[in-house]
Amino acid sequence: MIVLGIESSCDETAAAIVKGGRDILSSIVATQIDVHHKYGGVVPELASRMHIEAITPVVDEAIKKADITLQDIDAVAATRGPGLIGALLVGFTFAKSFAWARKLPFAGVNHLEAHIYSLFLMDQKPAFPFIALVVSGGHTNIYYVTSYNHFELMGQTRDDAAGEAFDKVAKLLGLGYPGGPVIERLAKAKDPAAIVFPRALLEKNSFDFSFSGLKSAVARYVHDNTVTTADEKAQIAASFQEAVIDVLSQKLIAAAKFKKCNRIGISGGVSANKTFVEKLSWKAKQKNIDIFAPPSELCGDNAAMIAARGYTMIQQGRLCSLDHDVFSRTKID
Ligand code: KG4
Ligand code: ZN
Repeated sequence: MIVLGIESSCDETAAAIVKGGRDILSSIVATQIDVHHKYGGVVPELASRMHIEAITPVVDEAIKKADITLQDIDAVAATRGPGLIGALLVGFTFAKSFAWARKLPFAGVNHLEAHIYSLFLMDQKPAFPFIALVVSGGHTNIYYVTSYNHFELMGQTRDDAAGEAFDKVAKLLGLGYPGGPVIERLAKAKDPAAIVFPRALLEKNSFDFSFSGLKSAVARYVHDNTVTTADEKAQIAASFQEAVIDVLSQKLIAAAKFKKCNRIGISGGVSANKTFVEKLSWKAKQKNIDIFAPPSELCGDNAAMIAARGYTMIQQGRLCSLDHDVFSRTKID
């Protein structure tokens, strides 16, 4: 079965052609980062408009690159939520219309489940059960995944998402949007232990996160120390990143221990952070836990993961009809 996947929940317009739920024939991502960069974050109204401009050329390119014709597409899947309503509506409505016009089955995909599915697109995918972290600009969720359809939410952020903390700290330091990649780059040259920022570990046995205190601590430090030079900013980036990595790694390993499970998969934009993957892998190795992290093109928002999740739903007959709508917030399961 060949599935056309479409993603438009935030600031990336993406389309992909995936065969048999695993074989990526094409995956096109048109990012709006340049437009949102000057505002220091995503402007929802601009995002919607840009999705409208990009959706048709992006889908055309995905079909062309996959070297297939319209007739070869057997089913359609699009992100239904969570995300920005106006942005979601563009991809979801396009996909609905495409499916209706060509009389194809159509699945409305949960974006968070799709991030977990990016792990199933890897050559070496994790066996069940495993602990999954979805860590992005909007979410920091830990799941216990027992099958292709069962995702038990073990913990989540009580305030900012980890990616959001990267973005806010970058804005504070005048480094632009998105914060993750620039903070990771600047951090490389510095000793992460030079400044000790707080780690919010919350109650014992809680798998929840809180990153707003860390963000405030960085803001206070910047204010009190009148940080101006590139060197000082790089130092803050390194110590901030270390605090985030530390908390994410500790909670993930604790969750794995709690469930007596020796596999952890990470996904979402922040999992593109190589320093995070290296440090988590090193810590996990001491506990005989294997880490699974997708290649960077599958970490951030993409449509291959949407098509992969849609494939399973379509096979199980979990389809959307024309009167189904998008949703902005949800939890999975
Ligand atoms: O999954 P994603 O592309 O979109 C959402 O669903 O939110 O994640 C975007 C988030 C942004 O907050 C961005 O700063 C963060 O992922 N990010 C990173 C890195 N690359 C992207 N955070 C840390 N290190 C990175 N290398
Ligand atoms: Zn995402």
